[in-house]
Amino acid sequence: MDSQTSGASAVVKGTLVKIPHQSTWVFGLVTAISIPLPSHEQTPDEQRFAEVLLLGEADVGTDPATPIRFERGVSFFPSVGAQVYIATADDLALVYAKRSSSSVRIGTIHQGRSIPAYVSPDRLLGKHFAVLGTTGTGKSCAVAVILRRIVEAHRNAHILVLDPHNEYASAFGDYAEVIDATSFELPYWLFNFEELSGSILGDVTGSEELQREATALAALVCRAKEAFLGNTKKASHITVNTPVPYKMSELLSLLDAEMGKLGHGRNVLPLQNLKTKINTLRNDSRYAFMFGGIATSDNMNKILSRIFRIPVQNKPIAILDLSAVPSEVLNIVVSVLARITFDLAVFSERSVPVLLVCEEAHRYLPADDRQGFEPTKRILSRIAREGRKYGVALGIISQRPSDLAMSALCQCNSIFALRLSSTADQEFVRAMLPDWGGGLFDFLPALRNGEAIVIGEAVPVPARVRFDTLPPEHMPCSKTAPFSEAWQTNGAGKDLLEGVIARWRTEH
Ligand SMILES: Nc1ncnc2c1ncn2[C@@H]1O[C@H](COP(=O)(O)OP(=O)(O)O)[C@@H](O)[C@H]1O
Ligand SMILES: [Mg+2]
Repeated sequence: MDSQTSGASAVVKGTLVKIPHQSTWVFGLVTAISIPLPSHEQTPDEQRFAEVLLLGEADVGTDPATPIRFERGVSFFPSVGAQVYIATADDLALVYAKRSSSSVRIGTIHQGRSIPAYVSPDRLLGKHFAVLGTTGTGKSCAVAVILRRIVEAHRNAHILVLDPHNEYASAFGDYAEVIDATSFELPYWLFNFEELSGSILGDVTGSEELQREATALAALVCRAKEAFLGNTKKASHITVNTPVPYKMSELLSLLDAEMGKLGHGRNVLPLQNLKTKINTLRNDSRYAFMFGGIATSDNMNKILSRIFRIPVQNKPIAILDLSAVPSEVLNIVVSVLARITFDLAVFSERSVPVLLVCEEAHRYLPADDRQGFEPTKRILSRIAREGRKYGVALGIISQRPSDLAMSALCQCNSIFALRLSSTADQEFVRAMLPDWGGGLFDFLPALRNGEAIVIGEAVPVPARVRFDTLPPEHMPCSKTAPFSEAWQTNGAGKDLLEGVIARWRTEH
């Protein structure tokens, strides 16, 4: 191996190299290095082998040493004995060049610190992407960099970020509409039957008693919807899943009337239980986003407009703070939101391409069949499989890739793999991308914070990328408990507990 810039010893796994072949330069990444018989002192004739994954080729320019016009894919394999050169800064700039005018910068290439790394939004969002990495490695910052750069260049984007830890509220400044716990509205009548039944009754499978309550609920929902719409044409097309408003008070009156008819018999028990459960949720302030509105009105237009930024009104990102949603219904809420996203895309006939960013995706798309909420898994998998057709892209963020459903992750054509410390997670990512010669992934445990191996459609060729550093005011606020800071000041007085107890009592 030879080099135009430095000695062959500078070759490490991940180094981009070029090999001349007739009138082309073939480019590849070193994926493994071996020295079969290492000598005690390094001698010039010591044999060193590098395995190279060929990635693409460029034409020879007027200066034979300077390749031009890089393209992915290799038409001829270099011959045995050909010289191999380490790519120069110019070569790196050529290979990692901006591929289209819409490409956006996200950071720099590890091999050449001054070379920008670009991603193409069309390719990134065309087939979903994933950001994977152990907690604290910079996933949320990476998401903030990627989204910020996309919206800076695409002011009319439609991006919905599901934010279970309330991290992103301040990260996007004026670009984002922040829907916080106090203003988040997702009325019960937007839920389909599975989602409503899941919220009120929990998992009904295997319990005849609960199934009787579910059957009663379905009938009552239909009647309450018909009552709301009155004697209109719309009322004749109503199903239990149609997203039209109805009054919960109406449903409860219908329920009372049914109970009245049944008297004190055994059959009244499911209805009584159902009534108690509905009232418990209605009186629980944590469920105000579902049951909150004083008057039920058809404000579906207003709700969709705010969540999906239609019209954009200079805020292409909606941050949905889900931190206050009770954990027992979080999965259901995500199901409703994902389903509405998909339905909106279908009924708008692809006129509004939407990116749905899912933090903590392993919660909603678990590998274990017994976990999660079935409708959430179903709709997210459907978006993963069919979203492209309808203009819905998924951004899957997770610190536990090995707990994620492989089927959904396989639909991600761009992967940003930050440091992964667990071997199970490293193996999972490696298995997911078998074509990449494994070698690149050897870096996964050793990456620095804010560094990622980026692979797939979004980038011209795989790269080790250092994300641009976000200024503090653009950073998502990660919620690591600030021990040392808190333990230095004496801020935890009696007043603090009074406030905590008051909140505890009102929010439960
Ligand atoms: N691109 C970046 N710009 C600025 N700081 C970063 C960047 N990437 C990582 N960091 C640092 O790493 C910390 C953890 O990043 P974060 O994105 O919250 O990690 P994760 O979401 O993986 O838990 C941040 O608080 C920040 O200090
Ligand atoms: Mg995070």
